Amino acid sequence: MTVAEFVVVANRLPVDRVHGPDGEEIWRTSPGGLVAALEPVMHSVDGAWVGWPGQADLELEPFEAGGLRLIPVALSEEEVEEYYEGFANDTIWPLYHDVIAPPQYHREWWEAYVTVNRRFAEAAASAVAQGGTVWVHDYQLQLVPEMVRALRPDVTIGYFHHIPFPAHGLYAQLPWRDQVLRGLLGADVIGFQRTQDASYFLAAVRRRLRHEVKGSNVTVPEEDGTRTVLAKAFPISIDTVPYIELAARPDIQARAAEIRESLGNPKKILLGVDRLDYTKGIRHRIKAYAELVAQGTLNVEDVTFVQVASPSRERVDSYVQLRDEIELSVGRLNGDYDTMGHTAIRYLHQGFPREEMVALYLAADVMLVTALRDGMNLVAKEYVATRRDNRGVLVLSEFTGAADELRQAVRVNPHDIEGLKDAIMTAVQMPSAEQGRRMRALRKRVLEHDVNAWSSSFLSALRAAQNKPTSSS
Ligand code: G6P
Repeated sequence: MTVAEFVVVANRLPVDRVHGPDGEEIWRTSPGGLVAALEPVMHSVDGAWVGWPGQADLELEPFEAGGLRLIPVALSEEEVEEYYEGFANDTIWPLYHDVIAPPQYHREWWEAYVTVNRRFAEAAASAVAQGGTVWVHDYQLQLVPEMVRALRPDVTIGYFHHIPFPAHGLYAQLPWRDQVLRGLLGADVIGFQRTQDASYFLAAVRRRLRHEVKGSNVTVPEEDGTRTVLAKAFPISIDTVPYIELAARPDIQARAAEIRESLGNPKKILLGVDRLDYTKGIRHRIKAYAELVAQGTLNVEDVTFVQVASPSRERVDSYVQLRDEIELSVGRLNGDYDTMGHTAIRYLHQGFPREEMVALYLAADVMLVTALRDGMNLVAKEYVATRRDNRGVLVLSEFTGAADELRQAVRVNPHDIEGLKDAIMTAVQMPSAEQGRRMRALRKRVLEHDVNAWSSSFLSALRAAQNKPTSSS
């Protein structure tokens, strides 16, 4: 097998299996921001991407799609249950999102996590060229940096953590807390979304492993000396170009008008767009809105709330339960308040192509991002990028990474239902001039700090790490 200078390792490959014009199965590059950000780098330096093709028991040879070299890692049905649905999404995910749902600790899940992380690490280690670079992504693969280092001490290793890192009081619950920290410290550079995430991680390293921490640098003792690891915030962003271009297209604008029309031309449209996940605060948002409707503060003839909740992790119990709760409250609200021509809430448990999402963003007067905890929240940035006329209001939870940057949003604590109701009313009633003032500042920030700025700053930190000699004692 030919080797690559630059290897990305992520749980999922950046492709979807779709049907071609003659019904044959083909791989299409998924429109995610990460691929968009890394594609130029991958092409310029001869890159490869290691990841799971998204289905159990699918054994595939390395292949190319959209000019990308892809190296599939197979997972058995049992590994999907224990590593992906279990340890990644029912242990780490809830624990790292401040235990909004109770994390499950199972020793068999941990063993599956170690086994699968090793498989990813071996695939990366055999794909990377001498002295090359490996960039590992996200909480599913926290042990991979240390495993790659053991197999290939010659390569430079980066790790980026897309979700929050919890405060020590919570992190300490994890039965395998020290192993996970050591796994991450295999990297030369560890990137987090917020400064807070980086400092929680550094505090855990200091307290649990007793390594020396100075500023953003950790000194890791090795057999033959020490190694310095940089751990700091590199807030991720979106590829703004396709959003701006789509928002300028007459057919997308016509589709936005058609959406408004089909909702009965309400004066205001509120919008929520999330994966159906308990971290997103969808229940809190519906509760606040339902109270405003019940009180008569909002009238369904004037206002409609559109909630897109794309299906996610549907076999994990807490997701099954959340879906039932949301659908019960949507059904109740609509049953009580819908009229023949107007609906209180239009709920869509579906995913949509990017064109339709941009039309929805253009149709929405108010965007509601009320996550209880969120690493970044790219939906908030997507909404802002599409608002070329500088109109529209973003209501943004202070518990998102985006809140550190998007200071001119209407900020909310989603646990405070009265505060959330006030924020919704502030947004609904905001004068156009104030919308413009805020949106201009928000757009400036998002357009300047796009995903290319993010990947460049991470990769330059990684290059600096590469040039630093290791000290020996
Ligand atoms: C979050 C995580 C990603 C993950 C995505 C979708 O954004 O940070 O790593 O890929 O959710 O979740 P899924 O379980 O479908 O991959």
